[in-house]
Formats: sequence, structure tokens, C-alpha cells
Amino acid sequence: MKALEALHEAHKIAFSPFVFETAYTMLELGILEAIFDSKSGLTIKEIAKKTDVSEYGVRVLCEMADSADILEQKEPGIYSTTKTGYFLLRDEMTKVNLYFTHDVCYNGLFYLKESIQNGKAEGLKVFGEWNTIYEGLSQLPEKVKKSWFDFDHFYSDNSFDDALKIIFKDSPKQIFDIGGNTGKWSIASTKYNNEIKVKMFDLPGQIKVAQENINRIEEIRDRVEFQTIDLLDKTSEIPSGADVYWMSQFLDCFSEEEIEQILLKIKKNMKPDAKIYIMETFIDDQRFPAATHSLVATSLYFTALANGNSKMYTASAMKYIVKNVGFECIKEHYLHEDSFHTILEIELKK
Ligand SMILES: C[S@@+](CC[C@H](N)C(=O)[O-])C[C@H]1O[C@@H](n2cnc3c(N)ncnc32)[C@H](O)[C@@H]1O
Repeated sequence: MKALEALHEAHKIAFSPFVFETAYTMLELGILEAIFDSKSGLTIKEIAKKTDVSEYGVRVLCEMADSADILEQKEPGIYSTTKTGYFLLRDEMTKVNLYFTHDVCYNGLFYLKESIQNGKAEGLKVFGEWNTIYEGLSQLPEKVKKSWFDFDHFYSDNSFDDALKIIFKDSPKQIFDIGGNTGKWSIASTKYNNEIKVKMFDLPGQIKVAQENINRIEEIRDRVEFQTIDLLDKTSEIPSGADVYWMSQFLDCFSEEEIEQILLKIKKNMKPDAKIYIMETFIDDQRFPAATHSLVATSLYFTALANGNSKMYTASAMKYIVKNVGFECIKEHYLHEDSFHTILEIELKK
């Protein structure tokens, strides 16, 4: 029986894109919703009628979904959603992950092997000729962009409330938001404290979007500055003046050597008593296997789509890099009540 089960698992892997596309299609065509809505389950004919999809289409999808435990037949021919089907339909995190996988990653993942062999995100060519996805982020097709931002924001937004309390405990006057993206943190922190000044650093496309977002908000726009920077450019510099350097879901966009270089750029001009806060979803800090699974999968997005050389890190790997360049992690803040993040609080080694 054990060998038979293993063979079944192996087949699930061999056909996994079929299951994935079935789930996506059933969500998009409203089939899962229609089945879930009906308490007593529906026949193929009834689903076809409710969703305006052909009986053939409904049948092939339902048969696959039944075999993949997304649906079940409580009586022969009457389909209901299982708990897994329910989560696909109603769990926000599952949907954010699924749409990110479908819209951003699916086509590019076809080039995973070449990406690994060449140390380059070979899948990115499905969208454009950039070295990293971040150079082209603001130019991605609308649907792709939406799924990318939904994925990014879903995770970081949920942690901001806790993070703000941690960062403001030392009453900083100036924050540098490095890799600030659309300006969400700059907005949240300047709204949270009406004296704080924030300087946001990012690539030109993202700075333009953040500027538009922030300039619309009268109460904060005078307290946010912007600086375009390419941290992969060896000559780029992070200026002095910050009490806090904030890097949220940022360092995972870089290889270990690049992270060292970025930290050294901070170190070069920082005040001796300034603090660095690194917020990440670390692989070794997760309580649930589903979270670990999602994170190691996300690493492959970096491999095939984003840049070809970065990943989701373990907290221990990040602390090792931090120590190597002369910093000390003085505290680890676990935000796991509402999120999957840890914040590393870092200062210069005394
Ligand atoms: C995953 S997003 C994180 C955004 C935000 N901090 C958050 O928590 O949601 C990473 C950000 O790093 C920026 N980034 C990536 N490579 C960069 C580089 N070489 N120089 C400057 N910023 C870069 C991207 O443009 C993007 O805005």
C-alpha cells in the first residue's frame, strides 16, 4: 500500500499543472462558487446551466477536481466542494498565491531549468528584456502587475501595525525606506507619527508611482522625500542622516553577496547609533507547513522570473550575513499573531 500511495503522489506531481489550471479555471468561470452556493450539491447539468459553461467543459473540470479533492460526490453525480475547495474559493491568502502563480510565474517557470543552469531569470523574457523583474515592474501587463502587487502587499500590509510600534519605540526622526515600492510604508509611517520624516529609495519606475501616490495625500507629502537608486550599481551610495533604515521584503531580492554589499553601503555613511530593521518571512520561522511550502516556492519565482540569484532566506542565514559585515542582531521580533514576518533589529557591532 505504501508503494501505491507513493506512486499516487508521484502522479499528482506529474499532472500537477492540470490540477492547478483546473482550480484556476473553476474560480474564473464561477464554477466553484456555484457549487459552493448550493448546500445539497449540483449535477453537471445544473452547474452548466448556472454558469453558462458547456456540459463538456463542466464535466472535464469536475472530474479532475473530484480526483484532486477539490470536489467530492456525496451521492454519485452530485458534486459539492470539499474543505480544500472552500479554501481555494474563500481564503484570501490562497487566492493571492494562486493568482500570483498563474499570472506572474506560470509561463516563466517553464524556463526554470535554464534559469538554474545559467544563473539568470530566463523566464523573465515572457514579459520583457530586463535583467531583473524590478526594472520592468511598472511596465508589466495590468493583470500581471495586479497579481504581483496583491501578492507583495498582502504579506507586508498585514505586518505594518506591529512593525510601526517596534520601529517607533526609539522615537526616530528620520527613516530611510529602502525598496519602498509604491510608498505604502512611507504613507503608513508618516500617518502614524506626524513628525517623522521619511526618505524612500527605489528604482525609477517605482519612485514615480510612489511619488504619485504620496503627493495626493496633503498631510504627509511635505515629509516624504524620494531618491532613485540602483543598489546593484557598484557606484551607488546610501547617504547619511537616518535614525532607522527600514527594509521590508527587500533583501530577498538579492543574492547573499549583494545583501552584504547593500549592508556595507548603509554602514559606510550611517550614524553610529542608527538602527536597521529587516522585515522578512523567514523559512525557519514558520509554524505551519503550508507557509514553509509557499516560501520555498516563492524562492523559485526569484530564480526563474525575478533575478536568477536570490531567494527567501532563513533567519539564521540572514543573521550570518549581518554579522559578517560588522553588525549585530540585538533582537528578533516575531509578528506571527497576524502575519508570517520576523523583524530583525540590528545595530553596529560595539
Ligand atoms: C518585494 S518589493 C518590497 C516592497 C516593500 N518594501 C514591501 O514591503 O512591500 C522589493 C522592492 O525592492 C526594489 N528593488 C529591487 N531591486 C532594486 C535595486 N537594484 N535597487 C533599488 N531597489 C530595488 C523593487 O523595485 C521593489 O520595490
